[in-house]
Amino acid sequence: MRRSCTLVFLLASSGCGPSVETPDAHVADDADARQDTGPAGDGWAEVAPILERRCVPCHRDGEIGGFGLDTYERVAPLAPSIAGAVSSGRMPPFLPSEDDGCPSVDDFRNVPAADRARLVGWAEAGAPRGIGGPDRLVHTSEGPLGPADRRFAMELAYTPPPLTTRADDYRCFVIDPHVSAPFPTAAMSVEPGNRAIVHHAITFMVAPAQADEARRLDDAEEGPGYTCYGGAMVTPAYASGLWVPGDASVLEPPREDVGYWFPAGWQLILQVHYNVEHAHGEDRSEVVVWETPVPIGEVPRNLLVGDYDFVIPPRTARVEGTASGWFTAAGTSDVLGVSAAEGTIYAVTPHMHELGQSLRVQLVHADGTSQCVLSIPAWDFHWQGVFRLHEGVRAVAGDELRVTCAWSNPDGDETVTWGEGTSDEMCYASVALYSGR
Ligand code: HEC
Repeated sequence: MRRSCTLVFLLASSGCGPSVETPDAHVADDADARQDTGPAGDGWAEVAPILERRCVPCHRDGEIGGFGLDTYERVAPLAPSIAGAVSSGRMPPFLPSEDDGCPSVDDFRNVPAADRARLVGWAEAGAPRGIGGPDRLVHTSEGPLGPADRRFAMELAYTPPPLTTRADDYRCFVIDPHVSAPFPTAAMSVEPGNRAIVHHAITFMVAPAQADEARRLDDAEEGPGYTCYGGAMVTPAYASGLWVPGDASVLEPPREDVGYWFPAGWQLILQVHYNVEHAHGEDRSEVVVWETPVPIGEVPRNLLVGDYDFVIPPRTARVEGTASGWFTAAGTSDVLGVSAAEGTIYAVTPHMHELGQSLRVQLVHADGTSQCVLSIPAWDFHWQGVFRLHEGVRAVAGDELRVTCAWSNPDGDETVTWGEGTSDEMCYASVALYSGR
């Protein structure tokens, strides 16, 4: 019915929809028909599910998006900016590209092209109301693994400095989970205390010596925690979980018996990126942990490949750096070294800082052919993450894992090299593997 009305509208005819009842139908016709549906026959009822799944996780009260997109009344006036943000790919913020044979990534922010076109078409038509649709869109935050089994809160609440000082604050907090016996961990993430200011958060596991070192950094600074940026500022620190708005960031293991033991005596470092552009206040976030539902059958392997000796000269449009790691026969893993036993890559974590332009992870086979594992054509430090591949990529002994980073430093006066600070750079990717297919 709505579709035929649209057709009528496009043919510039009259006599369809609510305008039929209006006495001065001949005047109100065009306006009313435009209110009815968009070019594809879409009204609020048709686009609401797309907004609910793809936008509302970040755009609702108290969330980082800053404004709600959860009722028709809130969405309609923003139609022009929604059309612009969605058609340009700025929203939802999602970095990986599936072009050039790169694998598909499972993520609620990865909007299918048809849904994107539908939302843009509707917004460009002026967000017609149409008939029906929900009054309010709601976000259900239950992740793929259900409620967490263990929670470890920040020892003290922290209030980031107000916007007058700076908008972004990267802060690390040491948390002692008091673990006396190792426990089987399936996944780790963060439950933000104050969602309006927590932009993203990363958890690291550290041995007692690194925990002590981190506590010294904490003591040297006023207030809870210490300033940290790309990492935890102590090494080694093993990244173990990530949270970005929308709760889709729990890295669901590829099989329920895949997990690792959280070692006794180890501690957690929680790195939180606060952004106080839209809101301000106190935060006390928690690290949340899911245990494996069955005994651990396999510990996932990680291969972390990074370039540490690149040089980015001042005033350069583009500089590239590459790094390689290798896959070896089963049973010969050199964890966090430059090789790992063959298996199926199911997740990729790329990392650069703010001069990053693009990043590509490839599998180069012994015969010279190659396969894309992940491609980020337009890097954005604010929206990095752990990306779970929809279908794993098989790596066999002899394959090379190659990471290619590109940076751009057009305005900088200084040479930039590897480092943990905001004015330093990085280039690495870590892949997680297991033995399945
Ligand atoms: C992962 C969180 C997240 C998701 C998902 C998300 N947004 Fe946003 N959005 C933000 C944040 C944060 C901002 C504030 C500006 C910034 O940091 O980029 C923003 C800003 C915006 C803006 C204003 C600025 C601009 O870029 O034009 C619009 C419009 C917008 N979002 C629309 C949408 C729509 C439509 C969707 C769903 C299709 C969506 N957003 C999904 C987090 C999100």
